[in-house]
Amino acid sequence: MAVLSDLHLTARPAVRFRGVDTHTSLERVLEAVAAVPPDVVLLTGDLSHDGSEQSYRALASLLAPLGRPWYALAGNHDEPAELMRIFGPERLLDDLVAGRWRLRGLTSAVPGRLEGRLGTRDRQRLLEDLTHSDQDWIVALHHHPVATGSGWIDGSMLEGAEGFLELCAASGRVRAVLYGHIHDARDVRRGPLALYATPSTCLAFPHPSPGLDDLHPPTPVGWRRILLHPDGHHETEVHWLPPA
Ligand SMILES: [Fe+2]
Repeated sequence: MAVLSDLHLTARPAVRFRGVDTHTSLERVLEAVAAVPPDVVLLTGDLSHDGSEQSYRALASLLAPLGRPWYALAGNHDEPAELMRIFGPERLLDDLVAGRWRLRGLTSAVPGRLEGRLGTRDRQRLLEDLTHSDQDWIVALHHHPVATGSGWIDGSMLEGAEGFLELCAASGRVRAVLYGHIHDARDVRRGPLALYATPSTCLAFPHPSPGLDDLHPPTPVGWRRILLHPDGHHETEVHWLPPA
């Protein structure tokens, strides 16, 4: 599986995100992904920077040459209604099963807000499904459930993160939690859980840092590869590309 995050595509390549052409940047990352073709591609939010129809159409065009199924989660910059209208529900990650592995997508983005929150129904469904499952689970969401040390972004982390991680750990079924939003890579172990952040395909935020003002693009960009083995163990590595 290839995991990409925080693509921040704009309506047109000429409209830049902090000086970065996010379209060309994604294209470079996808070329690297194509060199080790995944079975499936997962996008953990902020696919679009401006929520425009053009940005989502551009995403579909850029992903098409890879010829692999892809699934997405909405981030705080996305327009979930546009995502749903353009791609249909089948592109929004809900519940994927492959052998003994089960991949669950959770919506943490709340329209009009920066911070993340899980809906009561999603949380309850996760708890119930985990209770009745003997599979190995990966749970994916946009917002970060562990602090980065950068106050400016930790203010928008997942609300109730401790309770969410406890729920996942107590189930004994969740092997890893995948997230984006922090524009950096992280591999953190929390009891039985592996918590993996995937870097942005367009702009890296260093953590911990006092803010974005000292950021001077271009920065390294990257993606995460995850190998899910039939015996229930997994491996992962972050592939970084040098600044363009
Ligand atoms: Fe982002």
